[in-house]
Amino acid sequence: MKSRCLIFAAIFAMLGLVGCDEGDIQEAATETKTSGKVARLTAAVSGIDSWSSQYSVVLAAFAEGSDYAVVQKRLTEGDNGNVETTLNITSDDVATIELCVTNRLRQRIVSFASVPVSQLQGDSLHLAAGRVDVSMFQTIQDMVFTTTCARCHGLGNAPAAGLTLAQGQSYAALVNHEASKQERGVRVVPGDTEASLLHKVIHGDPAAVSFDHSNMIKEPTTIALIDNWINAGANK
Ligand code: HEC
Repeated sequence: MKSRCLIFAAIFAMLGLVGCDEGDIQEAATETKTSGKVARLTAAVSGIDSWSSQYSVVLAAFAEGSDYAVVQKRLTEGDNGNVETTLNITSDDVATIELCVTNRLRQRIVSFASVPVSQLQGDSLHLAAGRVDVSMFQTIQDMVFTTTCARCHGLGNAPAAGLTLAQGQSYAALVNHEASKQERGVRVVPGDTEASLLHKVIHGDPAAVSFDHSNMIKEPTTIALIDNWINAGANK
């Protein structure tokens, strides 16, 4: 028994040592050296210009398990419509190429389409994303309202507080719309988070509503996404 323990201890110690040198592990995991390769995106994209200045719609390369782009290329307003663009991969441990939105730290906020490097053909990796609406409000709808909120704020006869956050209904129910009670003010005031009930509710302000919404949205970057959308004018 004792010697077995020692062997396990030795193995863990070795793993610990190897773990310090992430580069080796990544190469072993992907088995493809990716630097010098080229990623190519073809897509019909809309909504690029709806993002506020904190964000970029990008074609980006990510290492395994990382939320931070290794390299990225920004799509601009002129790319709305049919996009064909390329990204030179400059790192050896890229695992995926993605059409996504990143913040100023190059942290991935949302990914719309992805292709793994295992689909490399020669020196080129093709991401065919099809038709994609990348708009900021639609992203919030898909990431938050539809998935987290609509089960209580749905389309039925009695959504909580009379607020429906279902696809197609949420924008009109929020922006410049009075809250269910006069003293709560307006649900979303474009350009003004502090005056917006939605902001107070998602930050768990106990004075806002009687039902605790804190921790409903897990990622701080997702809460920031909603705040930035309000501050940038709450555009559709
Ligand atoms: C488990 C049910 C439930 C879920 C899920 C839920 N809510 Fe609510 N929400 C409520 C209830 C109940 C109220 C009413 C509380 C009150 O009137 O004091 C409310 C009230 C609100 C209000 C105030 C509306 C008004 O006009 O008074 C906002 C804004 C709101 N919720 C946003 C959200 C958002 C955004 C999400 C998703 C992140 C969400 N809620 C998820 C139950 C829920």
